[in-house]
Amino acid sequence: MIVQIGEFKDKNEFYERLAEACEKMIDSRDSAIPSLANVSALLKTHMDDVSWVGFYLLQGGYLALGPFQGTPAVTRIGLGKGVCGTAAERMKTVRVDEVETCGNYIACDAVSSSEIVVPLIRQERLLGVLDIDSPSARRFGEDDERGLEKIAATLVKLIYP
Ligand code: SME
Repeated sequence: MIVQIGEFKDKNEFYERLAEACEKMIDSRDSAIPSLANVSALLKTHMDDVSWVGFYLLQGGYLALGPFQGTPAVTRIGLGKGVCGTAAERMKTVRVDEVETCGNYIACDAVSSSEIVVPLIRQERLLGVLDIDSPSARRFGEDDERGLEKIAATLVKLIYP
């Protein structure tokens, strides 16, 4: 599948292009897993300086590893545990500028320095989280947070209508 995101002048436009690419790429006849697998590949391919992109999906009261791109990862995360479980419990995006200084961080590889976790929420109910790691400290700012929240909203609309 060839997905082009075209020109963009800043991060806002970059994330708009990515959200549009998600809209074109996701076939509403597919179930969540193939769609999220392609989205993790899309984000990992187009975002600069990221080492891991993937989803954890709420299943039986914990977060279960879903489609991802990167090195093998922990398969279950309890609500409130780690950065993913914190974002899931709060139902709010969590950004960690330097994982070494984060008391509630679950290490999955030796290279990650910063992380952003965006919850996927449908009608006030948590479906899972989008987790992105970077080898650089302070990789994710407010513009990334806004852009990725837009992408998360697009995914929820398309995959869990
Ligand atoms: N660091 C995450 C665990 C998942 S990995 O980053 C893939 C956390 O603290 O929840």
